[in-house]
Amino acid sequence: MRIEQADDRITVHAPAKLNLYLDVLSRRTDGYHELDTVIQAIDIYDRLDLIPTDRGVHLNCSLPDLPTDERNIVHRAAESILERADAKCGVEITLTKRIPVGGGLGGGSSDAAATLVGMNRLLDLRLPRHEIADLAAHLGSDVPFFLSDGAARCRGRGERVEPIEGAAQFEYVVVWPGIPCSTAEVYQAFGFGLTPQNHGASFVAGALVSNDPGQLAAGRFNRLEEVVYRLHPELTELKRALEQSPLRGVGVTGSGSCLFGLVDPASAGEDIEKQIHQATGLTVYRARGLGQ
Ligand code: C5P
Repeated sequence: MRIEQADDRITVHAPAKLNLYLDVLSRRTDGYHELDTVIQAIDIYDRLDLIPTDRGVHLNCSLPDLPTDERNIVHRAAESILERADAKCGVEITLTKRIPVGGGLGGGSSDAAATLVGMNRLLDLRLPRHEIADLAAHLGSDVPFFLSDGAARCRGRGERVEPIEGAAQFEYVVVWPGIPCSTAEVYQAFGFGLTPQNHGASFVAGALVSNDPGQLAAGRFNRLEEVVYRLHPELTELKRALEQSPLRGVGVTGSGSCLFGLVDPASAGEDIEKQIHQATGLTVYRARGLGQ
């Protein structure tokens, strides 16, 4: 995340993510699934403006359809850090959304991480990093990843984050099909059949470190992808269309619904983005992977 601080306010730019690799290893007794995933933060950002107040949490949001009470993860993040720090102050947050909601790009999780880090600094709450990480893990499986950005291999529910040092910052094209996917619904419909052939998480992490786009495209894998296509068959057609473009390693991020592909460093991402937008009429982003 990027933080800009003025005297009386803080602005946090909260990035989106792509799952370059995602395997589901087992179902856990707590109802979650054990994951092995390689996540890459990308330069598509939500914006959060934070101002101190006397007490409580007040959230404003640029999207009228999003709730601004405890149903919003940003509200829950703000409440949880005020409570943990036993703070006698409050915050007003204005959330400007650019990351699609329900697209598998981690916008809500990133906003929550930005809220924790932004409030800790703005209100001088002085919670140590491990306390912030603990709050993050309770808020959602992807929230801990966004405390460090960059690229990371994440295990457990997703909360055990190992940063990938020196990862190459590739360019991607991301397509928002306009159909939100519910993460809970996708996991509910998931079943352990035969494990589809794949190269494993280390292969993908290795491709980032050795700056090898061919290896990255070959290794891109998402175990949830089949379920997403089963729940939303129209996405299969979108995948076929993207596979006709020069994008490499096309697939779904997280539990969907966005699809993405790698831009070969020898091709012009801008042209590919335009072609896909013209062919599909959908919202298309060009994004670059972020470093640590
Ligand atoms: O942790 P988060 O709130 O993002 O998860 C949303 C839902 O996705 C969970 O309620 C659970 O059904 C499912 N999930 C899972 N295993 C994970 C992460 C999420 O089953 N590792």
